Amino acid sequence: MPGIVVIGAQWGDEGKGKATDQLADRVDFTVRYSGGNNAGHTLVVNGQKYALHLLPSGILNRNSTPVIGNGVVIDLDVLAEEIDGLGARGVDTAKLLISANAHIIAPYHKTIDKVTERFLGKRKIGTTGRGVGPAYAEKIHRVGIRIQDLLDESILRQKVEAALDQKNQVLVKVYNQRAIDPREVADRLLAHADRIRPMIADVARVLNDALDGGQVVLFEGAQAHHLDVDHGTYPYVTSSNPIAAGACIGSGVGPTRIDRTVGIMKAYTTRVGEGPFPTELHDADGERLRSEGAEFGTTTGRPRRCGWFDALVVEAAVSANALTDVFLTKLDILSGWKQIPVCVGYDVNGKRTNRLPMTQTEFHHATPVYEVMEGWAEDISGCRTFDELPKSCQRYVRRLEELVGTQLSGIGVGPGREQVVMLHDLL
Ligand code: IMP
Repeated sequence: MPGIVVIGAQWGDEGKGKATDQLADRVDFTVRYSGGNNAGHTLVVNGQKYALHLLPSGILNRNSTPVIGNGVVIDLDVLAEEIDGLGARGVDTAKLLISANAHIIAPYHKTIDKVTERFLGKRKIGTTGRGVGPAYAEKIHRVGIRIQDLLDESILRQKVEAALDQKNQVLVKVYNQRAIDPREVADRLLAHADRIRPMIADVARVLNDALDGGQVVLFEGAQAHHLDVDHGTYPYVTSSNPIAAGACIGSGVGPTRIDRTVGIMKAYTTRVGEGPFPTELHDADGERLRSEGAEFGTTTGRPRRCGWFDALVVEAAVSANALTDVFLTKLDILSGWKQIPVCVGYDVNGKRTNRLPMTQTEFHHATPVYEVMEGWAEDISGCRTFDELPKSCQRYVRRLEELVGTQLSGIGVGPGREQVVMLHDLL
C-alpha cells in the first residue's frame, strides 16, 4: 500500500506528527504538498525537540527522502535557516528534493500580507503574516517566481521586475508604502541559488517512479481540511489546498496512487485566526482546554481558540476526503472532566441539522447541539491498549468514531512518540 496521505480534519494543529511517527520507519519518501512556513510542526525525537515550518518531518528520518512538492510556497531565507538549524544539530539534509515548479515567497509578499491585513481592519483573516496568500495569488495571476528561475539569473531578474512593476504601484498608491527595489529582491533570492541548485528536482517523476517500484510515499498535509481555500470556511482559510486531493495537485501524482487517507482529529477543537467556530468556549472551560492542552501556535505563538469536539466538522472532512481512517490526538488532555459535551448537530435559525451548513451565513448562525458524555478521572497517558482506557473514556472514543463515520486507527495519549494506542496499522 504505497501512497498514504495524512491530513488535519479540523482547523489545523491536530498533532499530525503523532500519526506520521507511527509510519516513520516504513516510509521511503515524505512529501510536503501545500502551504508554506505558515505551518508548524513540533517533533520530539530521541528526547530532542525540533520545530519545523517548511521542511517535511521526514527530514529527521534517515531512511526517508524528504520532498517539497510543487504545491508548496517557499521562503528561501526560512528554508536556509531550517537547513542550517538542523545541520548544527547533526541532522543530514543532503537528500532533500525541491520541485522545480514550487513558487517562491519573495520579501514583498510578506509586506503585502501584512498591509492587506491591516487594510481589512475588523474583516481581517488573521493570517500568519508569512506572505503565503500573496505568493499563491501571484501564482494564480501567472506572475510568480519559481524555484527553477534560480537556475537562470536573467529570467529571474526579469520576472521580479515584472512582478514589482505592478506591485509597487499598489504599495505606494494604495497602501502608502515605500516602493521595493527589484534589484535588491533579485540579489537576495539569487544568494540562495548555489545552495538550492543540487536539490532542485523533477519531483513528479521521482515520486511516480518510486510508486511504480512499490516504495512507500507519505504525503504530509499542512493546515487542515477546513482551512482549504475551496472546501474550508472561506474566506477564513489559507490560500492552498491542504485536503487529500491537494496531494495529487501539489506533487504530481494521479488520484489512483493514493491508497490510504488518514485524518487527524483532536479530542476537542481549536482554531487560530478568524472565522466561524460554533463550539468555541469563551469561558473558564475554554481557558482550561487552552492551558492544559498548551494551545499556543507553533508558528506565531498566538493563543488558539478552544472548544468542544464538533462531529459535524470532522464528518465533513471524512466525506470530502474519503478518509479511510481517523486518528484521535490529545485524548489525555480531557482527563479530569466530569462531563464532556460533544457537538452532534447545529441549530441554524431554529432548524436542526446534523450536517455542516452549505453557506457561510448559516455557519455564522449555527449554535451547537450537545450530547453530554461522562468523563473520566484517571491519567491515561500510560495506556497502550484500548482495554486499558477507563470505560467512560472508551465510550467517548467509540462515540466519536461512530459520529464521524470512519475507522479509528490510533489514539494519542501524550506527547511522546510511544504514547499511543494503536487499533489498526496505518500501512
Ligand atoms: P495564512 O495561511 O498565513 O494565509 O493564514 C490564513 C489562516 O490560516 C489564518 O486563520 C491562520 O491562522 C490559519 N493557518 C495557517 N497555517 C496554519 C496552521 O498550520 N495551523 C493552524 N492554522 C493555520
